[in-house]
Amino acid sequence: MSEKLAPIPIILDCDPGHDDAIAILLAVQSPRIDLRAVTTTFGNCSIEDATRNALRILTLAGATNIPVARGAAGSLAGLSELGNYVHGPSGLDGPEMPEPGFRLSEKSAVELMHLVLESSDRPVTIVATGPITNVATLIQNHPEAVAKVAEIVFMGGSTERGNHTPTAEFNTYADPEALDIVITSGIPIRMVGLNLTHQALATPEVVARMQAMRHSIGRICGEWMGFFGSSYHAVWNFDSPPVHDPCTIAALIKPELITWQECFLAVETKGEWTRGTTVVDLHKRYRKSPNASVAMKLDTAGYWDLVLGAMDELGRRQ
Ligand code: RIB
Ligand code: CA
Repeated sequence: MSEKLAPIPIILDCDPGHDDAIAILLAVQSPRIDLRAVTTTFGNCSIEDATRNALRILTLAGATNIPVARGAAGSLAGLSELGNYVHGPSGLDGPEMPEPGFRLSEKSAVELMHLVLESSDRPVTIVATGPITNVATLIQNHPEAVAKVAEIVFMGGSTERGNHTPTAEFNTYADPEALDIVITSGIPIRMVGLNLTHQALATPEVVARMQAMRHSIGRICGEWMGFFGSSYHAVWNFDSPPVHDPCTIAALIKPELITWQECFLAVETKGEWTRGTTVVDLHKRYRKSPNASVAMKLDTAGYWDLVLGAMDELGRRQ
């Protein structure tokens, strides 16, 4: 008899954000995921908007039992590069959202992360889908907690070109020093970069499947894709938007959806034109030992079946 796998305990650190929102829905719905906490960071919008959006998304999902804590308003270097040009003034523009049905934790993001790690009976996976400032601060302030982290799966970087700049992806551009701390922490890391997430396009067929769902979650997700898609077309001339962040959660739920390559990974923190660029040594040119698993190939059909199946199941519960 196949043993029933225990749900994977995770902390989701995010900057919702349309694609973060779908990652939250996927994590809430999946029986393979034990969502212990959601922590927020600046990124797609201000920390205040990201935090309000996180509370609203969890309320929409009927998950008002998940603790939410506010995190960094800016990077370790004191900068706050924002992505409102993609996600709109609220960070989650498009459909009307329910007001938060529960209160924000009084703890900071790092305090909540530390509490979850220290009180867990087994190592916890940290999933980061925004600038990775909170995770780096956790590592700096609580080095003893590092042993309680099973792995860090982060959406960020790219083996190819960037998006926010020609070479740098937004999350890693927003706080490259934080990513460097994470990379050099010794915690096992998996990088889900643009080279992977650009395979996760919300095509018209995918959006039609959302709109065909007979509940508000399907309708809202379809409208999110409408707004997100219009930004991606205006800024990067994409026909369909890449739904980046749920790829990190999908990797945990169905590992077979993604193929990985063990590589040496570094992040540029000093380049005049290349700050925030991830350097992924796919061909061992530096002759350095691999320090990261890098996502390379996505089973796109399987990914959307998983994401849309979860979305529909969650919507039917409402
Ligand atoms: O570059 C894409 C990433 O930046 C995604 O995580 C998106 O939500 C933004 O945070
Ligand atoms: Ca994000």
